[in-house]
Amino acid sequence: MTNLTIRTAELDDLTACHTIECNCFPAAEAALTSSLEQRIIEYPEGFFVAELDGRVVGQLNSGSTDKDDITDEEFKQLIGHDPEGKNIVIFSLAVLPEFQHRGIADQMMTAFIKQSRKLDKKNILLLCKDNLIPYYSRHGFTDSGISESNHGGATWHEMALAL
Ligand SMILES: CC(C)(COP(=O)(O)OP(=O)(O)OC[C@H]1O[C@@H](n2cnc3c(N)ncnc32)[C@H](O)[C@@H]1OP(=O)(O)O)[C@@H](O)C(=O)NCCC(=O)NCCS
Repeated sequence: MTNLTIRTAELDDLTACHTIECNCFPAAEAALTSSLEQRIIEYPEGFFVAELDGRVVGQLNSGSTDKDDITDEEFKQLIGHDPEGKNIVIFSLAVLPEFQHRGIADQMMTAFIKQSRKLDKKNILLLCKDNLIPYYSRHGFTDSGISESNHGGATWHEMALAL
């Protein structure tokens, strides 16, 4: 895909990112526009989008913290976010359904891991459902077990990649 660009997000991408969020996650799990806006404004270096033929079709966004407990719901609105924190925490990785299975998420993840090293982070942390454990394992993440988070009423695994 020569016409695919992975780049950091800008405020102009907000509507597209919210559309992706709503198309990829159940309503109880999807981030609010206001949370996505805050993440773009406060931590653009941790927010990547995938642009295919000029259209934003995927996103990966995050926050940073020194804490190892990532179950705090307020953190998703970047309350407690510390850009100098040792951990970088992925909130959403999502690609519009009609553009999935083309390696777009892989490319965003590769760019994100590179960026996390550049930002001198020690760990990338995330919560995921059990069906995606093999996917993140492919990128080197290990499963730390079931999380105490019940975000959206679901069961989540904590996964970590030491950098
Ligand atoms: C997970 C997601 C971002 C992957 O995007 P993508 O661009 O299709 O990913 P890639 O093309 O790089 O890799 C695809 C691989 O991911 C894995 N995968 C994707 N969705 C999966 C699912 N629901 N269950 C199990 N494995 C899945 C498969 O191994 C798949 O391989 P395949 O294409 O040979 O079937 C996308 O499916 C998505 O947006 N899902 C909904 C949101 C979500 O659950 N995000 C993760 C939050 S933790």
